[in-house]
Amino acid sequence: MQALTQEKINEIRNSVNIVDVISSYVSLTPKGKNYFGVCPFHDDNNPSMSVSKDKQIYKCFSCGATGTVFKFIMDYENISFNEAVKKIADLGGIKIDLGYTPKVKENKEQYDIYDLSLKFYMNNINTPNGKEAKKYLKERDINEDIIKEFQIGLALNGKNALANILIKKYKPEEVLKSGLIGRNEYGYFDLFYDRIMFPLYDLKGKVIAYSGRIYNRKDNSKYFNTRETEIFKKGELLYNYHRAKDIARVKNQIIVMEGFMDVIRAHSVGIKNCIATMGTAVTKDQANLIKRMAKEIILCFDGDEAGAKATKACAEELNKIGVIPKVVRLEENMDPDEYIKKFGKEAFERKLENPISIMDFELSYLKTGKDLNNTADKAKYINQIIEEINKIDDEILKEVTIKKIVDETKISEQVIRNHLKEKPKTIKKEKETIKLTKYEKAEKNLIYYMLKSKTVIKMYDKKVTYMPTKEYRLLAREISAFFHQYGDINEASFIDHIEGDAELTNTIKKINQNMTSESYTIEEIEDYISVIKEYNINIAIERMQNKMHEITDPIKKAEIAQKIINLKKGV
Ligand code: CTP
Ligand code: MN
Repeated sequence: MQALTQEKINEIRNSVNIVDVISSYVSLTPKGKNYFGVCPFHDDNNPSMSVSKDKQIYKCFSCGATGTVFKFIMDYENISFNEAVKKIADLGGIKIDLGYTPKVKENKEQYDIYDLSLKFYMNNINTPNGKEAKKYLKERDINEDIIKEFQIGLALNGKNALANILIKKYKPEEVLKSGLIGRNEYGYFDLFYDRIMFPLYDLKGKVIAYSGRIYNRKDNSKYFNTRETEIFKKGELLYNYHRAKDIARVKNQIIVMEGFMDVIRAHSVGIKNCIATMGTAVTKDQANLIKRMAKEIILCFDGDEAGAKATKACAEELNKIGVIPKVVRLEENMDPDEYIKKFGKEAFERKLENPISIMDFELSYLKTGKDLNNTADKAKYINQIIEEINKIDDEILKEVTIKKIVDETKISEQVIRNHLKEKPKTIKKEKETIKLTKYEKAEKNLIYYMLKSKTVIKMYDKKVTYMPTKEYRLLAREISAFFHQYGDINEASFIDHIEGDAELTNTIKKINQNMTSESYTIEEIEDYISVIKEYNINIAIERMQNKMHEITDPIKKAEIAQKIINLKKGV
């Protein structure tokens, strides 16, 4: 693997224009020297993200997200720094060879074991042993093309067909680590047998696990899944993510389902912007993935009670990160697979075109099992709805819902409004600005301009001995060190330089929040520096005053008193 030097990274970054790259993801409009668009990294409709061609960085004035073209692609596509660099290098026509990305390299044997097992399973289904499995799939309307595309295979009825193959080629500990093979006193044996094998993929589309379905016999579990391994973390992936992500982006819509069979069915009739959570509660990681896939998010879970519960849980996880999904509910307890089979593609598409709002879903969900003529039930219902309204960050949806429950329950509108929380967003912002002391503000501003000008760095080097706040101190030191190493400061290079250091990256984000100014005056910088100095002097004075209290010797006491006076004078 070729190590990337700062120079090479600079070259690659400069081989493209950040404006061109970002505008292929977000629509940008020119305004003055910069371009503006809606920031994809927080929930917003205002064009608060600016992209600078001169500086080759983007910056969101609202959430503070900032970085070079690499960071943008990393965050947008959920890929590593190396992969982002590779992508840009390809765009810019620069050849680099990164080989395997670290994670793949680390677990190369595991990935290889999965590649080999996939070949084995896929082959099995096409042998006479696979006749019954094929028949089952055919009955389910899963044709040869789908079998190929989704790489559906078969684990044989034997005890150790796969084990024998793997153990010849790989170290026993690697084979056991894969979650495909077990070992007992008789030797190695297959953990999957006599099941139709559905490969599960990581975000990049590599096979890293299986879900095996029974098809011709009774068994306690319909599906048997690979346990979590080094390469398979169920809560970090979504079934079909790699196939759905591009089309979801183009359509700006992603449909979330429960089962992978639902996704396969929808895909097979041409509805390809679907992913599945695979029957478990949606994690925060998964919610974030879904959020980034498209603006419109439709939850289309199974039509039964369990599906309604899952819809509610998923919506809650999405609400936490500011996403308001829409909901499609299917009648007669059907899942999408059954619905499409029974009523056809068009009927399902009509459902997708008419999703209900999350609040309408909540209203009917919370109503089930309650009798609104019963006072206690009604009160409970209203309280629960108010709780839900308070979680939603969408003024229009809130208003519509209030009107609806007023109509439905005849409760006074004022009573509901009295129970509504104030807008959390504005409260938070006010708090943040209040919280910043004048010292923090000075540090923040000073660093903001250090990133832009070597004159300011030189002033910092000469005059600031100590930044009071740790995170600012560390960042300022890093900027200064960067300047001394490369003889200049360039914000884009610096941001790439600290790539991978979450703390510094986060601090940069903070620094940029609510800052728009591009120019400074020397007096302004001097001001920030003297505020920081003042802070340090106050601390020193405090320390000496404490010391003076402890000392009894009058001469020493006088000495310290003099020192304090000098400090106060700024000597
Ligand atoms: N699941 C599982 N183990 C089970 C049952 C379900 O891992 N015993 C997961 C599977 O990933 C499945 C999802 O939960 O895709 C949804 O379950 P279910 O609705 O029961 O699956 P279906 O898609 O309806 O499967 P099928 O139509 O094959 O019965
Ligand atoms: Mn089903």
